[in-house]
Amino acid sequence: MRNELSQWRVLQEHFESMRELHLRDLFKEDKGRAEKFRLEAAGWVLDYSKNRINQKTMELLHQLAKTCGVEQARDAMFAGEHINGTEDRAVFHVALRNTSDEPMYVDGKDVMPEVREVLHKMAEFSRKIRAGQWWGHTGKPIRNVINVGIGGSDLGPAMATKALGAYAQRDLRVRFVSNIDATALAENVRDLNPEETLFVIASKTFTTQETLTNARSARRWLLDSLKDTAAVARHFVALSTAADRVAEFGIDARKNMFRFWDWVGGRYSLCSAIGLGLMVSIGPERFFEMLDGFHAMDEHFRKAPMEKNIPMTMALLGIWYINFFGAETHAVLPYEQYLQRLPAYLQQADMESNGKSINKSGKRVTYSTGPVIWGEPGTNGQHAFYQLIHQGTRLIPADFIGFARSQNPLGDHHDKLMANLMAQTEALAFGKTQEEVLAEGVDSKDVPFRTFEGNRPTNTLVSKELTPFSLGALIAAYEHKIFCQGVIWDIYSFDQWGVQLGKVLAGKVLEEISSESEPELSHDPSSNWLIKWYRENRKT
Ligand code: F6P
Repeated sequence: MRNELSQWRVLQEHFESMRELHLRDLFKEDKGRAEKFRLEAAGWVLDYSKNRINQKTMELLHQLAKTCGVEQARDAMFAGEHINGTEDRAVFHVALRNTSDEPMYVDGKDVMPEVREVLHKMAEFSRKIRAGQWWGHTGKPIRNVINVGIGGSDLGPAMATKALGAYAQRDLRVRFVSNIDATALAENVRDLNPEETLFVIASKTFTTQETLTNARSARRWLLDSLKDTAAVARHFVALSTAADRVAEFGIDARKNMFRFWDWVGGRYSLCSAIGLGLMVSIGPERFFEMLDGFHAMDEHFRKAPMEKNIPMTMALLGIWYINFFGAETHAVLPYEQYLQRLPAYLQQADMESNGKSINKSGKRVTYSTGPVIWGEPGTNGQHAFYQLIHQGTRLIPADFIGFARSQNPLGDHHDKLMANLMAQTEALAFGKTQEEVLAEGVDSKDVPFRTFEGNRPTNTLVSKELTPFSLGALIAAYEHKIFCQGVIWDIYSFDQWGVQLGKVLAGKVLEEISSESEPELSHDPSSNWLIKWYRENRKT
């Protein structure tokens, strides 16, 4: 077990000497702290000085990472080895954004020609749609593109399409339908003309219940209006690894399918064909700039020494709080409205990857693994949940993300936005002492309520501007952070067996709630009651 390593034990001892230290003192003691704990790569600066660490902490964390083989594991990923052990697959999303001329091999085969071929096909298709040269069945140009997919086949392109909204071709509507709740589809097609609407069915496996149900309903919606099954060819394309199932659905897999590969994990698939909706929205050139940003951070992750490595540093700080301070959650707080879906995207990336409790030897781990990821854009969150971060009983490490320039400069909005970001990290770190509160003339009985303990750790990630490049680099930094943490916890980060049980049970319950005759129920009493209640009440 990792927590039996001597490096872990040494960290535990070191923690005892650090737990009471205040960031106020750490900054007082070391005047060079802000420079010392600042890193730069791929257009991003990480200021991690407002963390409850000193030089020794970082050295010990680096030793732990080295002993756990983080660097070797990283090299194995880039070498296309089958590091996804439970599915015996390579983990090779880094090839999707390899914008260099270097080959990248999986099982002895250079995958780059196929990667480039699909990107080229996506670019041609996107250009046609954007130029109004992809005509629907009745000859009208497509103006609406609806991505139908869920999880990794939705969150990435949906998040990035919002994030890069400033670069969108505004006369095209690109929307995302994921939930099996029919409201999602109904509300998204309500105002659309089927003749001008194209559905992008995004599913790696092409078996996902939500996606296939929505896709079938979308086909019905289209055909109810166009009344000719031949229309499907002009109004449906697929993004998938499963050509046979795509063909079964009625989509011409040769012409209208954009493929990817089983070495692309769903939650790491934004740079694959799964990004088609995004590419339609921002155009191929901008999409390729995003790939450049991903690649720049990949290269930094691959080549920078551990002490200067942004993803490794973010990972190690997370380990420090989760495994030594006992933090259970991690907040992601973008001060950028366009990044409103980033926390949701990172929830899947992180929690589906590192929400594991069995180590690679099949043993239950005796330490905490992946945290609960959550967050909202600032400043909205300040007026909702920051109170708990400032004065609650829990320690909540947080990432503050901001930009020097706004995509929508308007008066002093951006200065105010960024002033809030800076003020929050300062207040969280340094708080306000009793003496300071008293000096403000506050009545002594009110002092405890107005005192801010501070010592709340934060990372600040800043970049000049939210561009496709900076977005790509930011996402890659988080991906690699998650990767490093998985290696340190000795878990398989690239499978997701935990979501299977619910899927299988849902199939059984569906049969029972839709059966004509009264089903014999063999669930627990609570579930039996719910099924009966639903059967009795669902009919109007
Ligand atoms: O929720 C489980 C999951 O397998 C995710 O990992 C994946 O991103 C999502 O379902 C969708 O899968 P698919 O792309 O195969 O439809």
